[in-house]
Amino acid sequence: MSSALLTPTGPATHSSPVTFREPTVDDGGELWRIARDSETLDVNASYSYLLWCRDFASTSILAEVDGRPGGFVTGYTRPETPDTLMVWQVAVDDDHRGRGIARSMLEELVDRIPDVRWLETTITDDNAASIGLFTKFADGRDAEVTRSELFTTDHFPDNHDPERLYRIGRLD
Ligand SMILES: CC(C)(COP(=O)(O)OP(=O)(O)OC[C@H]1O[C@@H](n2cnc3c(N)ncnc32)[C@H](O)[C@@H]1OP(=O)(O)O)[C@@H](O)C(=O)NCCC(=O)NCCS
Repeated sequence: MSSALLTPTGPATHSSPVTFREPTVDDGGELWRIARDSETLDVNASYSYLLWCRDFASTSILAEVDGRPGGFVTGYTRPETPDTLMVWQVAVDDDHRGRGIARSMLEELVDRIPDVRWLETTITDDNAASIGLFTKFADGRDAEVTRSELFTTDHFPDNHDPERLYRIGRLD
């Protein structure tokens, strides 16, 4: 995947250039670090980020700020509905938030996966930033957002908050 220079859509905190590319296995540790430092995301085993970068690189994206990893989106196309991109995690390092990086990653990712017409993600009700991000993305695409229950507290073995499914589309 070729890199693209970001034109900030939000209030720029600084003007460091931002580029986007597919992550590689060598980036897996940085994805884990960004997830950990977000202090919001579930931090999964470092192994899972390495595995993701090996097997789902083409449906994931890394943002580099000044040549250093500063944000990522991990996703996969659903095996039974390959026109649906399921976004697993999105994070941007605190210093780089508010510049439109997360939204640009979603735009780039959707545009480069052939035949994707729907985006799905799950969000807990207390994550205003995530709800705002995906709503803004949908608005920009003139797409509908449908919310439904997916994983309730009863599904989780560890008192995890419910994860509501957001389905966004069609993305033409
Ligand atoms: C959510 C997150 C990825 C947003 O990254 P970001 O690069 O700052 O987001 P963007 O600048 O692209 O924002 C795009 C839109 O999202 C919404 N948004 C972003 N941050 C927001 C916040 N804190 N509260 C409400 N809406 C927010 C806004 O609508 C924004 O558009 P605007 O700036 O034109 O108003 C970042 O805050 C983060 O890493 N949070 C911790 C991890 C997390 O919660 N990830 C999401 C769950 S998987």
